[in-house]
Amino acid sequence: MKSKQNKLDPIKIFEKWYLEAKKSELNNPNACCLATSDLMGYPSARMILVKKFDERGFIFYTNLNSKKAEDFSRNIKVALCFHWKSTGKQVRIEGPVIDLPDQEADDYFESRERESQIGSLVSKQSKLLTDGISGLDKEFMIEKRKLGNKKILRPSFWSGKIVVPEKIEFWKSRNYRLHERILFTAFNNEWKKEYLYP
Ligand SMILES: Cc1cc2nc3c(=O)[nH]c(=O)nc-3n(C[C@H](O)[C@H](O)[C@H](O)COP(=O)(O)O)c2cc1C
Repeated sequence: MKSKQNKLDPIKIFEKWYLEAKKSELNNPNACCLATSDLMGYPSARMILVKKFDERGFIFYTNLNSKKAEDFSRNIKVALCFHWKSTGKQVRIEGPVIDLPDQEADDYFESRERESQIGSLVSKQSKLLTDGISGLDKEFMIEKRKLGNKKILRPSFWSGKIVVPEKIEFWKSRNYRLHERILFTAFNNEWKKEYLYP
């Protein structure tokens, strides 16, 4: 992809900012807001955890029957926004969302705590939970008992997605609201770098 050989590599800058935030954020430096929109153009946003990033993009996991997944099955263009209070930095990412290879999703699922695996199995994410939270706990306990010590495989309705960056903007807080904004745009297999007014 674009930036591997390119000395203007926004993924490398992201890595530097992320590692810095990892040292100073209270928790979840990998948390960011994912914005999607539906076919009518209505936007929706929610927090997710980016579990990995590399030259392909930003990887997260979710239920494929959720509202967000319904959105990106119809409109693959999404946005991510990271904000780290402790470092005064923001990163905005825009681009299409694509599927993570199954094997990678299997490996990640296998690495999760057993209870989290069961949680993914029983959650019909974003659907109505008619019996309230106690109903969810009950479903969890029933499934846990049913599974015993059996190995839990990744269910087909849960997988990983990659947000492929077409634009990455780095925002750094400065005095007097003279914040620095650097926008990288993918162009002809390279990254174009531009500065924006705050
Ligand atoms: C800090 C944080 C991290 C989250 N990480 C994820 C995640 O990685 N994947 C996910 O599907 N939901 C995650 N959630 C839950 C989502 O915000 C959201 O409630 C859920 O995915 C349903 O969203 P939807 O109805 O728009 O699909 C997280 C929530 C918080 C607060």
